[in-house]
Amino acid sequence: MTIQWFPGHMTKARRQIQDKLKLIDAVIELIDARLPLSSRNPMIDDILQGKPRLIIMNKADLADPEVTREWLAYFKDQGHQALPVDASTGTGVKEIPNQIKLLLKEKIEKQLAKGMNPRAMRVLIVGIPNVGKSTLINRLAGRNIAATGDRPGVTKGQQWIKVAGGEMELLDTPGILWPKFEDQNVGYRLAVTGAIREEILNVEDIAFFAVKYLSKYYWQPMSERFDLKHQPEDFENPDEIVTVMEEIGRKRGCIMSGGRVDLEKASKVFLRELRAGKMGRYSMESPY
Ligand code: G4P
Repeated sequence: MTIQWFPGHMTKARRQIQDKLKLIDAVIELIDARLPLSSRNPMIDDILQGKPRLIIMNKADLADPEVTREWLAYFKDQGHQALPVDASTGTGVKEIPNQIKLLLKEKIEKQLAKGMNPRAMRVLIVGIPNVGKSTLINRLAGRNIAATGDRPGVTKGQQWIKVAGGEMELLDTPGILWPKFEDQNVGYRLAVTGAIREEILNVEDIAFFAVKYLSKYYWQPMSERFDLKHQPEDFENPDEIVTVMEEIGRKRGCIMSGGRVDLEKASKVFLRELRAGKMGRYSMESPY
């Protein structure tokens, strides 16, 4: 599902999140572990107005574990708590309430010092479309609550979902953020991972972007998959990248009449295999 974001949408989405902030103690900011910057909202710090925040690097099962470790160190350096998670199987999800508790330690201790029974920690999940918000809500709740593919502007009654034995309560509707559209590379990274639909950008351009990146950083799994012989020497030379794309096309039988490689078809096949995990785990961004 892809949302077309216009300034009006953004203002509305921002207002909806800020209204919800009044109701909650902490925010879970969901990002894609394969592209921790491109899947973040550029105005997130401003939108969250200092609310305690746990960053969850979702889809960590698809990301390069070594790069994910670098990102965790990066977020720590920035003073943020971050946690890698695979919401689709639940790996890492159990740790979330503990991390939120850590985030709200002072508040909870104050309540205890006053002789109060700490009430359930109220939490809102925010993130860009497709990052896994509904999957995570359902996983935390242990049942199907959130319909995947929530849209901004669709209002329904909000409910608190009790999780972690009642220690934590989640708002059932997540806050939907928009990615940083001004930078074209952000769009390509999101498209490579399937976070935005292919029709928005040209499929050959998306595949070119991915082949260039993988040639540089993940040559071995890609060359093994397609039995490629020649790694490009100059990654900035488009001809060398197109040569790799043609080789991939030939290996997959994407040939037009006259014997030329059908690059559009080759691009689709390549992206499908990449997204299906056939080239192993990869990250599209690294912090250093
Ligand atoms: P959203 O609410 O933020 O828009 O995202 P949603 O939960 O709908 O998840 C978007 C897609 O990402 C879904 O796949 C979902 O299964 C997948 N997903 C969510 N979390 C993870 C994760 O940690 N790891 C992996 N590998 N995938 C994850 P889909 O193809 O749209 O649907 P389906 O194949 O699950 O039916």
